[in-house]
Amino acid sequence: MKHLRSIEELGVEGIVRILSLSEHMAQVNQRPVPKVPALIGRTVVSLFFEDSTRTRISFETAAKRLSADTMTFSVSTSSVNKGESLRDTIETVSAMGVAAFVVRHKTSGIPWQLSQWTDACIINAGDGWHQHPTQALLDTYTVMSTLGRTPSATCLAGLRIAIVGDVRHSRVARSNVQAFTALGAQVVLVAPRTLLPPGVEDWPVEISSSLDEVIGDVDVLYMLRMQRERMNEALVPHLGEYSQRFGLDERRATLLRDTTLVMHPGPMNRGVEMVVDPATLPGNVITRQVANGVSVRMAVLFDVLGGSEVTTGAQT
Ligand code: NCD
Repeated sequence: MKHLRSIEELGVEGIVRILSLSEHMAQVNQRPVPKVPALIGRTVVSLFFEDSTRTRISFETAAKRLSADTMTFSVSTSSVNKGESLRDTIETVSAMGVAAFVVRHKTSGIPWQLSQWTDACIINAGDGWHQHPTQALLDTYTVMSTLGRTPSATCLAGLRIAIVGDVRHSRVARSNVQAFTALGAQVVLVAPRTLLPPGVEDWPVEISSSLDEVIGDVDVLYMLRMQRERMNEALVPHLGEYSQRFGLDERRATLLRDTTLVMHPGPMNRGVEMVVDPATLPGNVITRQVANGVSVRMAVLFDVLGGSEVTTGAQT
């Protein structure tokens, strides 16, 4: 059974395979009717125990474009509220004949746990602070395709990518560092000491505490959201001060090269990490990330569910 639980588990070969498949899916999405019968008769269930706008809708759109049946398990109206355990919940839903679960949960490691309780494929849509592999894949795809590169194990070679902000609480940062560096990019984390995770010395990255020093010299500026809901300590003395040192404001934006891609996983905290309106920046690809998310998630669903290449009807 195939799962997508982490970038590490996917490996370089897997990342390149998904990127290639995403190119086919992007072609499908350009058609007047962006739909193929690849996953007809298969059921994909979204199981979101944490808030989400874009990831959930993106997966559901992706599943529908591959003609899968989709179900949304909405935690707030389910028997979870009557005390049903996660195990009973997943076993009950699995018994209805589910091909894949797309799971988001506040606890790190839940996707591995779930895969012991069901025969369905598990796709991790975010587990705690740990991993968000499809975000990393769509970000990698966005960088690669915007720069006119093609999928390969070295397709991000020579690029310098800054990931800025709340790395400590960010599953996006963990997944993206793994994916970007696996494909040859050089990553620099820019954050106050308190927002770096324990053990960061062992990550394959450079570290800086000055955005001003780094910003003019990067190919990609990846801004992270301040994860205020995950902070139970005063890690940042004052949001205004954080914003002044690590936010992308108008002055700092003038230090960017015109060719630097500006990215954010969303949802954005305007006025905190994103002070300037990103729509005014030449390298802004934030909406492109969202659009690419659908193609990349189609590729992931197709890959884990073992659809056949022919049935995508994509032209190569
Ligand atoms: C991210 C998440 O939930 O991890 N959002 C997303 O999926 N696009 C990032 C975030 O919440 O900051």
